[in-house]
Amino acid sequence: MRKNRKKKAKKRFKFFKIMPKPERFEQAPTVEQDIRERDYELLKDYVNDIYEKSEAEEEVIESFKEHNETVLKYADNLAKKEEINPEEEEILKTATILHDVSKLGTEEGEEVPLVKHGWESAVMAEKKLEELGKSEEFIKGVKKAIERHMGPIPGFMEREAKKWEKETGEKIKFPRPEIITEKILYDADMLALIDPQGIEKIMNIRKNNEIFIKDDRETAAREGISQEEASLRSALKSGQEATASLFTDSAREKAKELLKESETQIRRKLEKEKKVSKVITEAERIAREEAEKIALEEAREEAEKIFEEEKKEVEIK
Ligand SMILES: [Fe+2]
Repeated sequence: MRKNRKKKAKKRFKFFKIMPKPERFEQAPTVEQDIRERDYELLKDYVNDIYEKSEAEEEVIESFKEHNETVLKYADNLAKKEEINPEEEEILKTATILHDVSKLGTEEGEEVPLVKHGWESAVMAEKKLEELGKSEEFIKGVKKAIERHMGPIPGFMEREAKKWEKETGEKIKFPRPEIITEKILYDADMLALIDPQGIEKIMNIRKNNEIFIKDDRETAAREGISQEEASLRSALKSGQEATASLFTDSAREKAKELLKESETQIRRKLEKEKKVSKVITEAERIAREEAEKIALEEAREEAEKIFEEEKKEVEIK
């Protein structure tokens, strides 16, 4: 009898064990969630359409799309760590999708200066969100987050503002993040600058800009390093600048990890490129020598032919 009870209890236990825990049940999305998801996709398409309408090269457009996805990923992770509420999450995600919408120009194809893309993106976001019937308060939250996302400040963005002031006489004062949604968008954008793709992007910009090229050449000569190493060091410095300007602890922690990863990954890549270029140079040298040998041989044969022909002509005469 006792044995039987034990057996039954064991059976019941087994039954509960194979039953999924209540939290494992996935809740079906509500109508509101469905609408939110549909709107996110709509807004992503809107941003991509604006980019594609611009005159930027395909490569640039792709890198902007990629950047937006990366910032979205970081913003999502930070939102989880900072435990923000669903309303804040919706504002954050919407602002993140739209934060750089004007960076390649407006809907009418007008150019937008880098120092002003936060404000212009906010204006474009407002118009689009009104079309989608979003509330005034929601739109205000999204706009404020977009206007406050530009950085690093202090650092690069302020230097750009000084250049702008010199060129146009217009003084620019950047509004700074105040509440958690604004801080997370700023931090997520900075993390995208610090990660390996971000650092590489800075290096590519340096490689294609006369002033930066001169700068890196001078550093390389002064410190006895290669131009690429100088460019990497400068890009990492920008990464440190971005790290120092972060707002949330979760982002600071992630930034440290990313900076290390960026340095290791890019150093490894540069090393590999150096080896490849050495092999190519050697192959080119051998090919050049071979070509010279063949050319010399051919010239010698040609000379001999001429000599023989001349000899025959003299004999005939
Ligand atoms: Fe931006």
